Amino acid sequence: MKLSRIISNQNGVSRRQANQLLASGRVSVDGQRCQDGAEEVSRFQEVRIDQNIIQQAEPAYYLMLHKPAGYLSATKDDQHPTVMELIAPNIREHLHIGGRLDRASTGLLILSSDGLWSRRLTEPDIKLPKTYRVTTASPISPETATRFAEGIWFEYEQLTTSPAQLEQLNDCEARVTIFEGRYHQVKRMFHAVGNRITSLHRESMGSLALDPELPVGGYRHLSGDEISSVGGRS
Ligand code: URA
Repeated sequence: MKLSRIISNQNGVSRRQANQLLASGRVSVDGQRCQDGAEEVSRFQEVRIDQNIIQQAEPAYYLMLHKPAGYLSATKDDQHPTVMELIAPNIREHLHIGGRLDRASTGLLILSSDGLWSRRLTEPDIKLPKTYRVTTASPISPETATRFAEGIWFEYEQLTTSPAQLEQLNDCEARVTIFEGRYHQVKRMFHAVGNRITSLHRESMGSLALDPELPVGGYRHLSGDEISSVGGRS
């Protein structure tokens, strides 16, 4: 929200008074004096007039989790454990998931309290590469890479997937990079070429790679550089 709006949303403060407060240098954002009413201020920033806090900064969390198999990418479920159960309870309530993984899938899962930021990971128009290591039930046929590169027709959505890359690692093992995140996308792509996935592990989303030091089920906060590599805090 614009800074001038945050000030004039205060009881009894008119737009004119808000502009006067700004001009007189009495307003600060995260401890820095700010005189520009057009400045966009997020809910994760603190705003003061003199020493009085008029907007408390909400805590901003940016986490990567090494998701184990068997956990649902959901906040709550009656039948299965959810990934939120792996996170400290005081942080958990603030988080949502930026790009789900199926229950059986493992690997990189991003959780954040900053919805604008995490949307950049999943927004189809941004075409962020997501890389998965997969094992398959049958040997991967030579034409699989070409079919993936051409795009696979998804009957339900009535669309062809964006060109995907396949790097074969073994007879039944490959690294696959997709640029969207449709429902069960990688599994359905293999199904379309007559094969079946037996394990799927996400290695990276854009520039965010699963930290090899993270044990299965463990998580850590992202570094400042990792946060800004996705486009910065909102
Ligand atoms: N594609 C899938 O099929 N499953 C996932 O969990 C992620 C991508």
